Amino acid sequence: MKAQPALPEGLRSTSRATPVPAGGRRPWVEHWLETCRDLSELKASHPMMDAVIDEIDGRTIRIGEHWLADFASCNYLGFDLDREIIEAVPAYLDAWGTHPSWSRLLGSPVLYEQIEERLTSLLGTEDSLVLPTITHIHMSVIPLLAASGTIFLDARAHKTIYDGCQVARSRGAAVKRFRFEDPDHLDELLRAERDPTRLICMDGVNSMTGNAPDVRAFAAVAREHGALLYIDDAHGFGVVGERDSDETCMYGMRGNSVVRHFDESYDHIVLVGGFSKSYSSLLAFIACPTDVKDLLKVAAPPYLYSGPSPVASLATVLAGFDVNERRGDELRRVLCARTARVLECLDGLGVYTPNTSGFPIVEVPLRDYRRIGEVGHVLFEHGVYVTLAAYPLVPKHEVGFRVQLTAANTDAEIDALIVALEHLAERGELRLRDDDPAWMGEAA
Ligand SMILES: Cc1ncc(COP(=O)(O)O)c(C=O)c1O
Repeated sequence: MKAQPALPEGLRSTSRATPVPAGGRRPWVEHWLETCRDLSELKASHPMMDAVIDEIDGRTIRIGEHWLADFASCNYLGFDLDREIIEAVPAYLDAWGTHPSWSRLLGSPVLYEQIEERLTSLLGTEDSLVLPTITHIHMSVIPLLAASGTIFLDARAHKTIYDGCQVARSRGAAVKRFRFEDPDHLDELLRAERDPTRLICMDGVNSMTGNAPDVRAFAAVAREHGALLYIDDAHGFGVVGERDSDETCMYGMRGNSVVRHFDESYDHIVLVGGFSKSYSSLLAFIACPTDVKDLLKVAAPPYLYSGPSPVASLATVLAGFDVNERRGDELRRVLCARTARVLECLDGLGVYTPNTSGFPIVEVPLRDYRRIGEVGHVLFEHGVYVTLAAYPLVPKHEVGFRVQLTAANTDAEIDALIVALEHLAERGELRLRDDDPAWMGEAA
């Protein structure tokens, strides 16, 4: 790893504070900044928020004068840095140019068909449709599937699922929330529901806890009540997959996502996922029956109206499938071992993390949410870059930082992270396993 940063001196210059115009801010700008004050202050002052990355070298990044080990990347398999994938791209650019530019309905390069065919086979679904991002899919597909029926929304679902449900509500759907990780509560709500159109929306591998829901239990509830279970596995796709007696680690094989990981069928399930994390490309998918795919081709606005993914992204997905097939399970083994080192360190320190799965998202809550800025500086000074989870991004008692591991992180980078975690634990900054989380929120 490159030299560690010595001082936080001049750090502010690497962040971009919103300039206050002469005559003060407009009242509506002031209003919105006030509603997310903790976050906007952090953004304005902290080197780990809204940072400009000047350069990368493997999984180290340079911000101004400072080289840091990057634990904020979602490139779990390291495909962004994989020479085989990088070298596959120019031939696609030569053949297709940089950008197809048609919306998919107007003109769909055969690359899409190749991607959908390989994806469908990898996942073991009836069919699949790719669109540029998961956000596009949530905003366009959730309202279609919900129609004027009722959506049962996981209370801790990702913000983009919430936004899709808001659009559905504005088109006549009702939205009811069930408690996070609580299939019994969902069952109770569905039992009391008279509306025959029922859509359940939730995350797969959770982007904060790093854990997967009990897909079997949720699928059973959905089937019992004739509901459709819509799962967003942005973080699980590529990382977790089908279990096998020959598996290289407990993530399972092939990275074919959370439904296969739980050995479930796709009966009453549609799976949404993205290539922008494990596959390091700008593309997303919905795995669904062919009649639903055909409907989406005429009714989902992004298929009709949105610009497409760049050719380089389509190319990296196709090359990514090849690498996944040949080397993916070995990369997942490395990823699992790297993650285990971090979890073992926290365990040894008695520090709490919600991660019980061993998957590569490790959230570390603080004892005092007001210390997030200082804790971020300590990490920065130790040459470690993480995602800061400030209020109101998360509730006050969950404020902390999120460490994401990738197969491209080196042992030396993990050594640096462990030194920083030990230092923070010694200073009493990190919530301990025995601390009462409710008290943590109140105390601060
Ligand atoms: C669970 C989840 N869903 C959706 C998204 C958004 O994905 P996209 O960038 O493809 O819109 C993210 C991004 O981090 C995510 O974590």
